[in-house]
Amino acid sequence: MQILHLDSSIQADGSASRTLTKTIVTDLVNLHPDADVAYRDLVEEAIPHLDGPIGAGFRPLPFNVSDETTRREHARSNELADELIASDILVIGAPMYNFSVASQLKAWIDRVIQPGKTFRYTETGPIGLVDGKKVVIVSTRGGSYLSAPMDFQEAYLKTALGFIGIKDVNFIRAENMSRGDLARASSMDTALKAVLPLVTELLAA
Ligand SMILES: Cc1cc2nc3c(=O)[nH]c(=O)nc-3n(C[C@H](O)[C@H](O)[C@H](O)COP(=O)(O)O)c2cc1C
Repeated sequence: MQILHLDSSIQADGSASRTLTKTIVTDLVNLHPDADVAYRDLVEEAIPHLDGPIGAGFRPLPFNVSDETTRREHARSNELADELIASDILVIGAPMYNFSVASQLKAWIDRVIQPGKTFRYTETGPIGLVDGKKVVIVSTRGGSYLSAPMDFQEAYLKTALGFIGIKDVNFIRAENMSRGDLARASSMDTALKAVLPLVTELLAA
């Protein structure tokens, strides 16, 4: 079993999402000791944002690419998409920043959504090509959005992953992280308790 573990919090030690993704991956490996884990800290090793020449590596864009730096970025785009395709379970740390995801996570998404590789256009619309993956998204946020329309984080991630064919998307959620120590501790406690049941269910399915 191949696990792809992504973190995108700009915080290091104090990060709730990093604590939760680590717990999830640890539980997965404990229950499935043969698992291989590929880890990407998308902040520590930030992926450059998409631009025209980089996008020309996998989109029909009118850029003539000859420099070594851009060629390396094309190789990186391939590597990131191949790594996603090779994985069975994705664990994604996704704090809410300004109602959406970290730009570092968006940069990863912009590299792995590739026509002809992770989705293709058909006469009846686009279809996803990435089958059979399970995803756990750790969603951390300062406030509470369960009944709020300003959530462009979880909804966006579900849409983007669904677009490339990934439908089995699960959430471990810690809300109210900016509403004081008590609220934070209670949210973390609830989220941590939800990890093992979810991981067990994912591995059983
Ligand atoms: C730059 C920045 C922007 C944020 N924007 C939002 C926001 O729009 N809505 C929200 O509820 N919380 C927001 N927060 C709070 C974080 O979502 C919250 O602190 C969460 O715990 C971050 O995840 P982490 O602990 O893994 O770093 C923001 C925090 C930062 C640092």
